[in-house]
Amino acid sequence: GKGNYRHFMEKELHEHPAVIGDTLRQYLDPGTHAVRLPRLPFDPAVVPRLTLSACGSAFLAAHVGRYWIEQLARIPCDADVASELRYRDPPLAPGGGAILVSQSGETADTMAALRLLRDGGQRVLSIVNVPESTMARLSDAALLTVAGPEIGVASTKAFTAQLSVLACLALGFARARGTIDAAEEERLTEALLSIPGHAAAVLEQDGRIKALAAEIMTARDVLFLGRGSMFPIAMEGALKLKEISYIHAEGYAAGEMKHGPIALIDPAVPVIALCPSGPLFEKTASNLQEAAARGGRIMAFTDAAGAGPLGRFAEQVITLPSIDPFAAPILHSIPVQLLAYHVAALKGTDVDQPRNLAKSVTVE
Ligand code: M6R
Repeated sequence: GKGNYRHFMEKELHEHPAVIGDTLRQYLDPGTHAVRLPRLPFDPAVVPRLTLSACGSAFLAAHVGRYWIEQLARIPCDADVASELRYRDPPLAPGGGAILVSQSGETADTMAALRLLRDGGQRVLSIVNVPESTMARLSDAALLTVAGPEIGVASTKAFTAQLSVLACLALGFARARGTIDAAEEERLTEALLSIPGHAAAVLEQDGRIKALAAEIMTARDVLFLGRGSMFPIAMEGALKLKEISYIHAEGYAAGEMKHGPIALIDPAVPVIALCPSGPLFEKTASNLQEAAARGGRIMAFTDAAGAGPLGRFAEQVITLPSIDPFAAPILHSIPVQLLAYHVAALKGTDVDQPRNLAKSVTVE
């Protein structure tokens, strides 16, 4: 049941801390905290290329995974939505690996991509939430997200659990390839392990996020901006808002604004910025400042170090716990999902069963 919550989605949002912790513990050694991966269908030390594919939110998790694996493990990666990958018929590297991501493990397009990759000689690893799913069976190996059943059509806790597995994979691959040293691995692992506590603190800002939801609920369009691994999280915020509140939203790479979408900016289009401090902060902040200078209402999610500089031009700044940039996309997923939830709840839409959508998309 929903317990004391109004909707399954709200209940599931509040499960983020537990689910992230449970999933990380599955792939980290309890004593040393070192990444401990089960046997994989490809050897990360030598695999020449990885293809990541999925649909919807699971694809956005894969998109972040690509950034992590490329940056930390230096493995060339490709990430594409399954419905495109399967018709693109891409040349596949001999001896290459594939990573498919799915909550249900039954999504028709993702399964079709899985078959294409497998038949093309790729060794297939799936990240699924349902252990007995078709995808788990069709893969050479499956890694489980420990999210428990997800009832709301909008994916929430399964998404952060997928990110948690992908982060562990990126660290494990990096160790196998010798691209990070032990100290760095320990630092990044500790950052991951700090997420559940920080996630609980983010959920305590519920009232603040609900107030923000009240401000954007009458907008016709909303823009979400992020750079680097925060770009897919901007798209996740936009997808969730579209899906359950029926407000048109776009997730954009902050640096692409000046190539077109900045023409949209006016005070009627709220700009939700995902801008934690780190190496990409300055560039992203200057993109946001350009939007503010054109009348855009900037609502920024950042941390203590980012709050000062963004506060000079942003209409609202929501300060999240400070965390290593590696772990920031997992933490920032929570407020954007919560924001979409509150907009939908305020509008009175059918939050758990949005129109035209199914939990598991078994048609192509
Ligand atoms: O079960 P899957 O993870 O394969 O589902 C993929 C998408 O259909 C799913 O993530 C969808 O985008 C969500 N409803 C988004 O909230």
